[in-house]
Amino acid sequence: MKNLNLIVAVGNNGEIGFQNQLLCHLPNDLKHFKEITTGHTIVMGRKTWESLKVKPLPNRRNIILSQNPDFKADGAEVFSSPAAMYQAISRDETVFIIGGQTIYQLFLHQVETLYITRILADFQADAFFPPVNPERWTLIEDVFVPKDEKNLYDMRFQKYCQSVL
Ligand SMILES: NC(=O)c1ccc[n+]([C@@H]2O[C@H](COP(=O)([O-])OP(=O)(O)OC[C@H]3O[C@@H](n4cnc5c(N)ncnc54)[C@H](OP(=O)(O)O)[C@@H]3O)[C@@H](O)[C@H]2O)c1
Repeated sequence: MKNLNLIVAVGNNGEIGFQNQLLCHLPNDLKHFKEITTGHTIVMGRKTWESLKVKPLPNRRNIILSQNPDFKADGAEVFSSPAAMYQAISRDETVFIIGGQTIYQLFLHQVETLYITRILADFQADAFFPPVNPERWTLIEDVFVPKDEKNLYDMRFQKYCQSVL
């Protein structure tokens, strides 16, 4: 499938979440996430959906993966497997895998582009993103975003594409 991307915010040690919540509130990263994903399709696991307090993210096609056949979600479409989801996605759609840990692991080997926000801090966590393999991925953008009164931590907005092997 074309146009399959992944977007994630990680701490220094690959941390992405704790107790089914994000690591911290960073308005600059939320703005970045919104700019990249708005108008497109986002795919998330059922637990990440629940962490959004059961509301779809606006102006995006919200897709949830769940193996529970009875699971329903207002404002989102639910699929029982990646294969079922692929069948419902058209070729010209741009898709972002938005988490969490389980769903990133499912798709990491299929995505074309990684959008990674590096939060330059250590966090307590129970959900993680694996290290980026430098043989497989090439860093093509790396923007430093300093902390400010509303954003507690320095960040880097990074973009990786697949290395030409
Ligand atoms: N930092 C970030 O950028 C970021 C982004 C998103 C989420 N997160 C964090 O990640 C954590 C959640 O990660 P998680 O791994 O616990 O949960 P998750 O990936 O959000 O969702 C897991 C659920 O997805 C469904 N699922 C998994 N594999 C499937 C498959 N092959 N087919 C269909 N459905 C499948 C299952 O739902 P059922 O149990 O209903 O079958 C499973 O319980 C939270 O802490 C969240 O805040 C961080």
